[in-house]
Amino acid sequence: MKQIFSGVQPSGSFTLGNYIGAMKRFVDLQDEGNCLYCIVNLHSLTVPKDPELLRQYTMELAAMYLSIGINPEKSILFIQSQVPQHAELGWLMQCTGYIGELERMTQYKEKSTGKDIVTGGLLTYPALMAADILLYNTTHVPVGEDQKQHLEFTRDMADRFNKKYGETFVIPEPMIQQFGGRIMSLDDPAKKMSKSNPNAGSYIALLDEPKEVEKKIKRAVTDSEGIIRYDKDSKPAVSNLLTIYSACSGESIETLEKRYEGRGYGDFKKDLAEVVINTLTPIQEGFTKWISSPDLIDILKDGAVRAEAIAEKKMATVRKNMGLVTF
Ligand code: AQP
Repeated sequence: MKQIFSGVQPSGSFTLGNYIGAMKRFVDLQDEGNCLYCIVNLHSLTVPKDPELLRQYTMELAAMYLSIGINPEKSILFIQSQVPQHAELGWLMQCTGYIGELERMTQYKEKSTGKDIVTGGLLTYPALMAADILLYNTTHVPVGEDQKQHLEFTRDMADRFNKKYGETFVIPEPMIQQFGGRIMSLDDPAKKMSKSNPNAGSYIALLDEPKEVEKKIKRAVTDSEGIIRYDKDSKPAVSNLLTIYSACSGESIETLEKRYEGRGYGDFKKDLAEVVINTLTPIQEGFTKWISSPDLIDILKDGAVRAEAIAEKKMATVRKNMGLVTF
């Protein structure tokens, strides 16, 4: 039986990249194993956050998880900071990893370059992520391609710890999709679609109104060739749009290439907007229901209790193996 863990940061709106690259998959995986899905609010603090906004985004992400189809009877849905073992193991992972390894992380380099304030947490983020995963005997971690390096770090930490202190952690496997593992910006296909991009036209947010979706897709960059063909190297922008279309409609890239043979980008974009809107509409309806539901808090409380029971069992072994005295 697979043991599946993944997390999303409550750092504002959620993009179609977050959905296609990771969250959409969370739903199907509920029938393949034991799933734990986490709102990683401690990770959000690596970049300074307004407390009121963090509270709001945390509850919005909980509502979003439920709106996309996470079923709390099948999966454990919880907030990271409500299970204190994450912070405890996070510290022990910081003491297992090396500064050189952390400084080599691409995300750290990207997010720290040119910034006035760079927190210690931004550097040690992968140690906390390793703790998140290793606490639950995780065998599989569905993530976008940008998290691949952090997953390799997690595997290294588990292996190093096991060699030093005896078999303690399961070594997890990343689950990264071949198509959709990296959705690119609508204004620049060389950049990852990201919710922190200051240009809102570069991403589609899951709560964007249909008119906004149409406008953003209409303005999305393409190329001058006028042919709808998948070729990541020579046609990165069109390939990205084809990937979004395929992920949202469930049709293969080949089927789409055939359908749009001899037709222009205008037609293609019009249909793409419709397909994206059809994907977002039920999510948005679910969100309106869940964000005001009195059940939301109870689901999160129950999730935290269930997660903590598993995490504490693992921590008891970790403390014993490391020589941390308990009476
Ligand atoms: N563009 C993307 N394509 C595919 N997958 C993506 N993910 C993020 N962007 C893309 C995957 O979404 C999951 C949740 O990500 P996160 O919110 O925890 O943080 P992130 O990776 O830093 O996402 P963003 O949108 O880029 O956030 P900001 O702008 O706040 O840094 C992860 O599995 C991630 O791989």
